Amino acid sequence: MKTRPWFSSSQAIAAFVRLVIFSAAMAGVASAEEGAISKEMLSYFAPLPGEMPAESNPITEEKVALGRSLYFDPRLSLDGKTSCNSCHVLDAYGVESGRNKMKRNVPTVYNAALHVGQYWDGRAADVEEHAKRAVVDSAELAMPDIDAMLEVLNSIPGYVEAFASAFPDNEEPPMSLDHFGKAVGAFERKLVTPGRFDQFLGGDEAALTAREKAGLVEFVQVGCVACHSGQALGGKLYQKLGLVRPWPQLKDNGRFGLTGEEADRFVFKVPGLRNVAKTAPYLHDGSIKSLEQTVEWMAWHEIGQYLDPSRVRSIVAFLATLTGELPPQELIGKPELPADGATTAGILANLQAGAWGGKPVQ
Ligand code: HEC
Ligand code: HEC
Repeated sequence: MKTRPWFSSSQAIAAFVRLVIFSAAMAGVASAEEGAISKEMLSYFAPLPGEMPAESNPITEEKVALGRSLYFDPRLSLDGKTSCNSCHVLDAYGVESGRNKMKRNVPTVYNAALHVGQYWDGRAADVEEHAKRAVVDSAELAMPDIDAMLEVLNSIPGYVEAFASAFPDNEEPPMSLDHFGKAVGAFERKLVTPGRFDQFLGGDEAALTAREKAGLVEFVQVGCVACHSGQALGGKLYQKLGLVRPWPQLKDNGRFGLTGEEADRFVFKVPGLRNVAKTAPYLHDGSIKSLEQTVEWMAWHEIGQYLDPSRVRSIVAFLATLTGELPPQELIGKPELPADGATTAGILANLQAGAWGGKPVQ
C-alpha cells in the first residue's frame, strides 16, 4: 500500500479534471446535435451489480444470516444499546437520523463495499477489515477491546452455533474476530440499491425524464465525472477537498492523519453518490445540509467553475435518479436475535460498569 497512485497528486488530478471536462464537453457537442446522450457520456458509468462479491470472502447464506444478526445486536457495544443499525439505519438509506455527535459524518453502508477503501480517509481496506475496526472504534461500537466482544458472543449459545455453521471447515476456531469481520462483511456485500439510473444505463430511455437527462449531461460536461464515476459514481479515488480553490474552515486533515504526507492534507475518499438525495448532511464533517449547496461548492472548489442556480437544480434532478430501491425486509429488517446465555447479563453489566480489565470476565 506504499506506492502512491499517480492520481493522488493534486496537480495530476487537476490536469486530469481539465482533460475529462474537455473530452466530456466534446462528447456533449456530438450529442447536442442529435438531442440524445452519447455513448461516450455513458461510458463514465456502470450499472450496480446484484451483489458485491470478494474472492477473499465468498458470500454464503449462513454468513449473511449471522452478519445480519450481528449488525442489529446492541450487546456488542460498550453501552449495550448501540448496534450498527443505530447509526447506519438500513430503513433510512444506511445513515442515521439526527443523533450524530461524532467527529465525522456517518457515511451510508449501502453500496459501500464497492469503494477502494472504507471510512472517509480509507483507513480500512474493505468492509471486512472495517467491521473488525468498528468493534473498538470510539465513533462506532466503542468496545474496550476485542476480547470483550468475543466474550459476549461466546456467552450467547445461538452465536456459538451460528459461527460454527457459517465457518465449518476452518482450521481456526469458528468464533474469532476475523470471522466476525467476514460475517458482517458478507452481509454488507448484499446491500446494493439499484434504481432508475441503472434501468437507464441498461437501455430503458424512458427511465429518466428529459429534465433528468439534461442534468446528467450537465454532470458529465461540468466535469463531476473526473471524480464521481463508475458503478457508485465515486468511491474509486482519494481527492483533495478544495482541489482548485481552498475549502474554507477545514479542521479535519483527512488522509494526512494516516500518512503524514503533506500531499495528503485535506484529502478524502471521493464518496459514491448513490442515494445521495437521501443521505444529508454532506461531506466528511456533515457541514452542508443542502444538496444544492454541496453541488454548487463542488463545482466552484473542485473544478473552479461557477454554476448558476438553474444548472445546480438540473444536476440535483439527475442526482435524485440515483436513489435506488432498498433490499427486501427479509434482508434488511431486524431479525430475531439469539437469546442471552446464563452469563451474558453479568458480562454486559461488568462492561458497562467499566469493570473490564481486558481479561475474560468469569
Ligand atoms: C455510533 C455510530 C456508529 C456505529 C454504532 C457504527 N458506525 Fe459505522 N461509521 C460511523 C461513522 C461516524 C463512520 C465514519 C468514520 C470515519 O470515516 O472516520 C462510519 C463508517 C462506516 C463505514 C464506512 C463507509 C464508507 O463509505 O467509507 C462502514 C462500512 C460502516 N461504518 C459500517 C458499520 C458497521 C458494520 C457497524 C457495526 C459493526 C458500524 N458501522 C457501527 C458511525 C457508526
Ligand atoms: C476533484 C475531485 C472531485 C470533483 C471534480 C467533484 N467532486 Fe464531489 N466530492 C469530492 C470529494 C473528495 C468529496 C468528499 C469531500 C469530503 O469528504 O468532505 C466529494 C463530495 C461530494 C458530495 C457529497 C457526498 C456525500 O455523501 O457527502 C456531492 C453531492 C458531490 N461531491 C457532488 C459533486 C458534483 C455534482 C460535482 C460536479 C459539479 C463534483 N462533486 C465534482 C471530489 C470531487
